[in-house]
Amino acid sequence: MDTQHASAPLSTPSRKRDHVELCVHDDVQFTTKTAGFERVELLHNALPELDYNDIDTTTLLFGKPLAMPLMISSMTGGYAEAESINRSLAIACAEYGIALGVGSQRQALEDSTHHASFRVAREYHPHGFITANIGAPEIAQRSARESLHRIIDLIEADALTIHLNPLQELLQVGGNTSFSGVLTGIEECVQYLQIPIIVKEVGAGISRTVAEKLLDIGVQAIDVAGAGGTSWAGVELRRSAMLHEEKAHLHALWNWGIPTIECLQALAPLKPSPLDDDEGNMRFTLIASGGITSGFDMAKSLALGADLTASARPFMKQLVDHGQDGLHTMLRQWREQLTACMFLTGSGNISTMQNVSYILH
Ligand SMILES: Cc1cc2nc3c(=O)[nH]c(=O)nc-3n(C[C@H](O)[C@H](O)[C@H](O)COP(=O)(O)O)c2cc1C
Repeated sequence: MDTQHASAPLSTPSRKRDHVELCVHDDVQFTTKTAGFERVELLHNALPELDYNDIDTTTLLFGKPLAMPLMISSMTGGYAEAESINRSLAIACAEYGIALGVGSQRQALEDSTHHASFRVAREYHPHGFITANIGAPEIAQRSARESLHRIIDLIEADALTIHLNPLQELLQVGGNTSFSGVLTGIEECVQYLQIPIIVKEVGAGISRTVAEKLLDIGVQAIDVAGAGGTSWAGVELRRSAMLHEEKAHLHALWNWGIPTIECLQALAPLKPSPLDDDEGNMRFTLIASGGITSGFDMAKSLALGADLTASARPFMKQLVDHGQDGLHTMLRQWREQLTACMFLTGSGNISTMQNVSYILH
C-alpha cells in the first residue's frame, strides 16, 4: 500500500505517522538475515518434576512486578492518532501485567500539542512499568538533556530509554547524524536522573564493546534490539523513496546489523554469575529484542541469558489488523508458549528458565 504523508513531511508528527504506516502496511523485515532463534533448540526435559499449573512466569523489573518478562517496545506518540494506539497498548499491558515503552518523546519537547498521546499510557497502565524514550542525538545536546524531566514527568516514567540509532538517522530524510558526545550525555543522565537508564538500539544490535562502554558509565539496562526483525534501514529507505529522495545506492544497508541472538551471546557473559550476586541484584538488566515473534522466542531469549524480552512491530501490526481483542489474543498465546517451554524444560520460575540448556544448530 502507498503510504500517504501529511503536508510537512519533515515534521516530527508527520514522520512518526509515516513510521507506523510503513511498519503496518509495508514489508520492512530484514530480507537476508534472521534474529537467529530458529538456530536455538531448548533441551527437552522428560522429567520436569513440576505441575504445569504451578509454573510462575512473574519477574521484577527495577522493583516493579511483571506477570511475565515482556515489554511492548517503544513505538509511538507525538501525533494525533498515536493517542488511541498508546491507549490500546497500555490497556493490553495492564491486562497482561507487562511493561510498556512509549515512542520517542522528542516531539513532546518541541511543544505540548500532542502531550496527551503520551500521557494516555500512564492513564491506562496506572501501576505498570512504563519507560520514557528519547534519541541519542537529543542526548548529545545539553539543552535537550536539561529538559528530560519534562518527558519523564509527563508519563511518570519508571525508567528512561535512550535509543542509539545511527543507521536509522543516516538513512532518514533530514535525519540527525550528530552522534559526537552521546556517551558523555548518557553518563550525565545516569548521574543526574533519579530513574534507571535503559539504552537500546532499534534493530541493528549492540556489540560487546558498546555494551562495556555503557556499563562502565553505569547504565542499568541494555536492550540489544538486534537485527532480524524490523529493519529500520528498510523503513527509512522506503520512506525516502516515498518522499522522492531516492537512496537506492545505499540499499545494501537494509540488512546491516548484528542478529539478536549474537548480541545476547556476546552480552550475557558480562552479567555476574548467580554465585557473585547478592540478594538477586543484577549488575545490569539484559533485554532481548529485535525479531521476537512468539513466546518460544521469549523462552529462548531467557535461556540465552536475557532478563526481559521485548517486541515492537508484531504488536503494532496485530493491533491495527485485528484490534484490541486481537492484541489480547496474541499476548495470551505468547504467555502459553512461554509457559509450555518452561514446563518442557522443567523450569518452575523465570530464574530457572534462564539457566536451562540449549543446543545451537
Ligand atoms: C512503528 C514503530 C515505531 C518505533 N519508534 C521507536 C521510537 O520512537 N523509539 C525507539 O526507541 N524505538 C522505536 N522503534 C523501534 C522498536 O522499539 C524496536 O527496537 C525495533 O522495531 C526492533 O524490534 P521488532 O523487531 O520487534 O520490531 C519503533 C518501532 C516501530 C515498529
